[in-house]
Amino acid sequence: MAKVPSAPAIRLLYSGLSKRFGKRTLFANLNLTLVGGQCILLTGKNGSGKTTLMRILAGLEQPDGGAIATPSGAYSWRKLRNYLQRNVMYLHQQPYMFSGTVRHNLNYALPRRLSRVERQTQIQAIGAWADLDAIMDNNAKSLSGGECQRVAIARARLRQPQALLLDEPTANMDASARARTLLLMQQLCQEGLALLVSSHDPALFADTASHFLHLEQAQLKAYEYPNERT
Ligand SMILES: Nc1ncnc2c1ncn2[C@@H]1O[C@H](COP(=O)(O)OP(=O)(O)O)[C@@H](O)[C@H]1O
Ligand SMILES: [Mg+2]
Repeated sequence: MAKVPSAPAIRLLYSGLSKRFGKRTLFANLNLTLVGGQCILLTGKNGSGKTTLMRILAGLEQPDGGAIATPSGAYSWRKLRNYLQRNVMYLHQQPYMFSGTVRHNLNYALPRRLSRVERQTQIQAIGAWADLDAIMDNNAKSLSGGECQRVAIARARLRQPQALLLDEPTANMDASARARTLLLMQQLCQEGLALLVSSHDPALFADTASHFLHLEQAQLKAYEYPNERT
C-alpha cells in the first residue's frame, strides 16, 4: 500500500488566476486554496471552465496570470509548474488505460527503483483498497466506467500526490459504482490529501465535500450546500 505522506498536509493558495481563450475570458482574478484533508466540490455549467481551471491548478496548462503561495514562499505558476505536476494530480473524466491488465496499469505508476517483491506487495494492497481484486488480470481497455475510475484513483494514489483533482469522476456511473468511488475519495481526504472534484451533482457530494464552489461568469463563488441528513 502506498504510504500516507508523512509531510505536513499541503496548503496551496492560488491567487489572481486568469485565463482567456481568444476574446473569451474564462476566469479573471480567481482565488482558490487547496488544503490537505479538505474536499472541495466545483460546480459550473458545461463550458464554464472547470476542466481548464483544474488543469491550471495541476500545472498542466498555463494561466495568463496568477501566483501561488506555498509554505516556502509565493511563486509564479511558471516557476512552480514542476512542483505542481509532481504534487497536484489531475484525473481525467475518462481516464486513459494503458493496454494490458489492470495489474500492469498499476505497475506503471510505481517508481522504477522498487524490487519485484515490493511492487507485488504494493499492487496487491492497492488492489484490495480500491476493490479491484476480482479484475486484477482483466484487460484494462475493456473495463466499465466505474472500474476505470477506481483503477485511475488507485494508480494516482501509488504516485503519492498531495492533492488530487477529479474531473467529473462519477459521470455515467450507476449508484453502486458511484458509492464505491465516493468511498475512495473520502478515505483519501481522511488521509490528508487535498481533493477538488468537479461534478454537476452537489447532492451526491453532500457528505463528502466540505466546501462548495460554483464557477460562473469568470468568477468562483462559494456556497453552502445543505446536508440533507441534518
Ligand atoms: N485549448 C483551448 N483553446 C480554445 N478554447 C478552449 C481550449 N480549451 C478549452 N477551451 C474552451 O474553454 C471553455 C471552457 O472549457 P472547459 O474548461 O472544458 O469547461 P468545462 O470543463 O466547465 O466544461 C469552452 O468554451 C472550451 O471550448
Ligand atoms: Mg470539463
